[in-house]
This record gives sequence, structure tokens and C-alpha cells, in this order.
Amino acid sequence: MSVIFHQASREFHLCNDGISYIIKILPNDQLGQLYFGKRIHDREDFGYLLEFANRPMTSVQQDYGFSMEHVRQEYPAYGTTDFRVPALEVLQEDGSRLTNFTYESHRIFAGKPKLKDLPATYVEGEEEADTLEITLTDKLLDMKLILLYTVFNGENAIARSARFENHGKKAVHVTRAMSLSLDLPDCDYDWIQFSGAWSRERQVKARRLEQGILAVSSARGHSSHNHNPFIVLKRPEADEFQGEVMGFSLVYSGNFLAQAEVDTYNVTRVMLGINPFAFSWKLESGETFQTPEAVMAYSGEGLNGMSQTLHRLYRSRLARGVWRDRVRPVLLNNWEATYFDFNEEKLVDIAKAAREDGVELFVLDDGWFGARSSDSSGLGDWYANEERLPNGIKGLSEKIEALGMKFGLWVELEMVNPDSDLYRQHPDWALQTPGRTCSQGRNQLVLDFARKEVVDHIYNMIAKILSESKVSYIKWDMNRSITECYSKAFPADRQGEIFHRYILGVYSLYERLIQNFPEILFESCASGGGRFDAGMLYYAPQCWTSDDSDAVERIKIQYGTSFGYPVVSMGAHVSATPNHQLYRLTPLETRGNVAYFGAFGYELDLQKLSEDERKTVRKQIAFMKEYREVIQFGTFYRLQSPFEHNIAAWMVVSEDKKTALVGYYKILNDVNCEFRRLRLKGLDPDAKYEVEGKDNWFYGDELMNGGLVTTDPSAGQVIAGEVCTDFWSKIYVLKEKDR
Ligand code: DGJ
Repeated sequence: MSVIFHQASREFHLCNDGISYIIKILPNDQLGQLYFGKRIHDREDFGYLLEFANRPMTSVQQDYGFSMEHVRQEYPAYGTTDFRVPALEVLQEDGSRLTNFTYESHRIFAGKPKLKDLPATYVEGEEEADTLEITLTDKLLDMKLILLYTVFNGENAIARSARFENHGKKAVHVTRAMSLSLDLPDCDYDWIQFSGAWSRERQVKARRLEQGILAVSSARGHSSHNHNPFIVLKRPEADEFQGEVMGFSLVYSGNFLAQAEVDTYNVTRVMLGINPFAFSWKLESGETFQTPEAVMAYSGEGLNGMSQTLHRLYRSRLARGVWRDRVRPVLLNNWEATYFDFNEEKLVDIAKAAREDGVELFVLDDGWFGARSSDSSGLGDWYANEERLPNGIKGLSEKIEALGMKFGLWVELEMVNPDSDLYRQHPDWALQTPGRTCSQGRNQLVLDFARKEVVDHIYNMIAKILSESKVSYIKWDMNRSITECYSKAFPADRQGEIFHRYILGVYSLYERLIQNFPEILFESCASGGGRFDAGMLYYAPQCWTSDDSDAVERIKIQYGTSFGYPVVSMGAHVSATPNHQLYRLTPLETRGNVAYFGAFGYELDLQKLSEDERKTVRKQIAFMKEYREVIQFGTFYRLQSPFEHNIAAWMVVSEDKKTALVGYYKILNDVNCEFRRLRLKGLDPDAKYEVEGKDNWFYGDELMNGGLVTTDPSAGQVIAGEVCTDFWSKIYVLKEKDR
């Protein structure tokens, strides 16, 4: 059993082989937090970890004799004796926001319950996890707060969430409901966030925690390009391979807040959940509000250890469906090949060339529907444009399948152009605040997905196409943030719910589509990586990582993304040069060498390449097919950061450790440079490995300790026919030879 309850000391110890998490019912019946970290021995009483001595002069107390300001808590409230930012806030009819949730009961059970209408990690057998459910009550309000904790057996991770139930007679408004709150005893941590903008998502930004509040958030209606609902705390001495690291990841795609508050006694309070800004949820008598899930991962083996836990968990117990465990098809997407300038004949020609080179899936991007000749019209009209596609999606998909490929389709189901039949028929279906101007982004408005009839209508339109045609893949785009967020279908005192109701509507549409079309592979997208989060991975096992397809920029974007998300979830394509975002010229080999580490594909018209380039493409596709199992499902290690070095490196090792691939990327060339070695990770120390291109073999321990001697032509190791330039890169393939 990995949840132990000590009756006498009133303590819960959640543990597995790697981690311990200890909660105590305090003398005032609220919950205190005692420990989160490496597994420690169990004991009857950890009470000594509860430090709650009063402080001179400033302590304010109740009759239980201590101040909550000085206690590390589990799910704190504001307004009595704690002055820090709370995990919850409930606005009551009389205007009060005070609550006092105290322990009532608990349940410990094997397995993990589902969260209604929300994405969450899951188990496939009760033996995979144990769950602790603690029920707290506010007697005055007759409200219950249910805290759920699941500890996974074999993964150093705990999933958490909170549920509010109003059993009282009066309605209340929940104005703050975090998924996770954790008080840590000191502040000796570096905070790492993954921030950026369109086309430069998830850049690694680190700084030391200090007294005060550090936070990242989104109020854009989607998790956003700007910040990610995932943060890391690491000990200053920890690095990629050693030291204590904690990752905090929210399984949610809407507005979020991730925050660390360090008080003046250096206690750190970490919080993660729905952004309380612009949020308020009315709970009528008998109603329930469930927060999204948050996952806390602990590693004593540095940042890579934390990432590997999240990779395994998200790859196998968050992603679902038939595609979860399947290698992903090599695809070609026509967006950068044609933009809006295509017809059926042109598409079929592009697909034919792709097929010749080994591409398995042809994806038709934006522009196939309604009167969509540019981004100013047609969104919402989910039927084929007959001028461009006289045989419809049905006819085109059949032609593509006849070529021996699968067919995929782009959609942007949450949006509408004012210039569309849908908007002309239902102008009230867009989110808009009465009497206010409606802002447009990319000439489009956001549909009111808080309304079931809107979601139903969109479902019916798209389900018709999917039923009639041979569609094996959907790229689900979302190209603007939400403004003037107001739904005409809800009363004034429920408008604070619309951002959350919107994302619940998105989840419900996804759920319906994946249930009714279970064979379709979904790739989520929001102008590239504007909604790359754990919530989406529950519905779409891969996500278009960024609209920036430049190989050099992609090294950073994929490196940053890998902290919280598995390699297989990152859509990564080879595109044409000069690159369409940066106008940079990079070698085709390097474009492939970067894109291999993801769900691989092409974003160009192969007919426009030279015969030599086509040969390279054929080799790349054959290479990916040979090694995608290892790349997409192996153990990934970041070796050297592009945020800190001119040379970046990463590697994957197969589960049986017999195969490994190392990606080595030099950004700018240097001349007559030092000899360079890469100390590899994760190999079998006793196994002999052959490294492709070297006529020698090496023990795993040599490669991990002495290092792999790189063959950088600028370092004097002149290799016949190989010239090192800017943006040069190399993939080293290691294979175990007979022992
Ligand atoms: C934004 C996406 O990220 C692109 O890949 C492409 O699908 C365009 N939208 C199409 O409008």
C-alpha cells in the first residue's frame, strides 16, 4: 500500500520506491504539509516536521494557539491568520470570503478515479497507483472540499486535484480554486519557466527564487505561446544529471497561473491551477466544481530524471487511443508548399512525389473549405470548396489512398470568419460582449464553445466529412486568443465561468470525435505551439511544436519543450530554404537531423528539390522508419543546451539499451577548434557499442565516462568529403555488438 494513515499522529504518508509526500491533520483540523521529496522511511509520527512556534509581536492567532501564517499548509485559505496567497477563495452571499475547511474523513483506495469532463492521467490496472481522497468541510457554509492525491507505483509523480461541493442552501461563487498548492520549508531553488512568443515557444528561462512572488500565467483563453503551464524548481547545484528537481505540470489548456511565493521566513509556496484572474464559478446548492489535475514530479537525478518521469507518464498514461503506442507516420503537409494556392491536381502531384520518396501520410492544410481563398473568409464552413476540389474531400482522399498513402486534414473548429455562411446564419454564436466592439485576430472571431448547441453544430459538420471520406489524421488548429469573453447564453453572474466553459467545450468536442473516430491520429496546434500542454495530450497525442520550422531555431524550441513533454508529442518537419520564417539557409541534412527527434514530416513541395536533395530526402525517410521506434519511445536525454552553448546535443536510448542515437548540432562554425567529446548517458556500461562511421567499438562505460570523440571536421579530424559549415550537425548511431 503506498498511502499510509497513522491514526494516532493523524498523518498521511504517500510513498512509492522513489518519493514520499506527508500530510498532517493540524490541531485545528486544517491540513498541514510536512514533506515532499525523496522516499524516506515511514514512521508513526513526523510531527517534529511541523514547525509552528509563535513569533514575537506580529503573530495573530485563534484559540488553537498558533498562527497559520507560520505553518506549512496543504490547501491554504486567506482571511484569518495566513496572509499569503491562498489556494482557494469562496465569495458568499453576504459578501464574506472567509472559509474554514477542516478534516472530516478520508478514503484510501487502489487505482485512480476519472475526472469528469477533464483531461487527466489514468491507470490501466488498480495496482498501478493508489489514491488518497481527503474530505474537508466548512460547517458554516455546508460546503465540502475534496482533495485527491494519486501516487503512481513506479513513477516519481503524484497527481492532484480539488473538488468543491455545495451542500448548503445558498449559492456561492468559487473565485479561486488551485489544482495544487505546496509549501516547501526553504527557498533554495532556481525557478525555470518555459516562455516565448509565436515562433519561439518554450525558451528556457531560469532565475533564483527570492522573497516575493514569481509567476507566469495566461489570460488568453489558451495556455499560450507566451508561457507554459509547467514550471520547474531545482536546487541551485542541480543540473541535467544530478541533484534535486521538482516539476509542476498542469493538465489543462485554458487560462492558468503558476506561481511561487517566498515569504519572509523563506518558506516557498508553489501554486498551479486555473488563473483566478477573470475566473468565478457559481455553485448553486447541490452543484460541484472540479479543478483540473496537476502533476508533481520529483527527481534526485537532475532535470533529465524529472523530464523522463513526465515523458513516460504522459506518453503512456495521459495520451490515449490506438496511436498512443504506435510509431507515427512520416507525413507531408502542404501548408508551406502552397499556402492557399492549390487545387486538386496540384495536391495530387505533390502527394505523388511524396509517395515516391516514402512519405506515408499526406496532410491537406488550411484552405480546402467554404470560400477560403485567404485567411479573411470561410472559417466555420466545413464543406469542401468545389472550385478547388471538384471531387470534394471524399474524392481527394480516395485519390491519395489510391497512391498508397493515408490522408489527413486541417481544421480550425473553434473559429469563425465574419465572412462565412456560418456567421451569416448565426452571428450570435461568437463570443462577444454586448455593446462592445469585437476584436478580430487573423480576421476571425471565436465561437462560443461554452454553448452546447454550437459545439453540436460543429461536430455534425465535421463528422459528416469524416464519415464520408478517408481521413486518417486531423490537424486541429486554433489561431487567435480570446477577447471580449462573454457568452449570451449565460446570465451575468456566470460570465466568470466562460473561459473555463469554453475549454470544456473544446474538450467535449475532442472527446466526441475521438470516441466516434478512434482510428484518427489527432495533432493539436494553435498557431504552432500556442496550446502545447498536458491537457491537449489527453486528446491529441502529438502537437505542432511551432510555426518556426527553421532547423536552428527548432533546436531551442524542441530542447525547451522536452523538459515537460515527450519527444513523440512534438510535431517536427523539414521545410524549404530559405526558411519561410527566418529566411535562413541550413543544410537539408541538419533540417532532418533536428526533425528526427519528434513526430517527423515535411513541410514543402518535394518536386521543387534537386535530384540530389531528393536522394537525401529518401535516405532521411528510410532512416526515420528504421529508428522511429527508438526515437519516439526510447529514453531521451538532453546532453548540452543550445541556450548555453554553440553546440547542442541530445540522445535517445532504446528500452533494451541496444540502440542509441545522438544528435550533435553546431550552430556557428568555428575554425581550428578544440577536440570535442560528448559524455553519453543511459547506455549499458558493460555492452560493446559500434558507432556508425567509426571502425572501432567501445564499451558503454567508456562512452559515458571517457566520452564519444566527435568527428567535427573543424577540429582537425578531417573526414573525406565532409565539410563543416555553420549549422552543421551529425547523428551518431550506436548499436550494441555481440558481447
Ligand atoms: C497556423 C498553423 O500553425 C500552421 O501550421 C498552418 O496550419 C496555418 N495556421 C494555417 O492557417
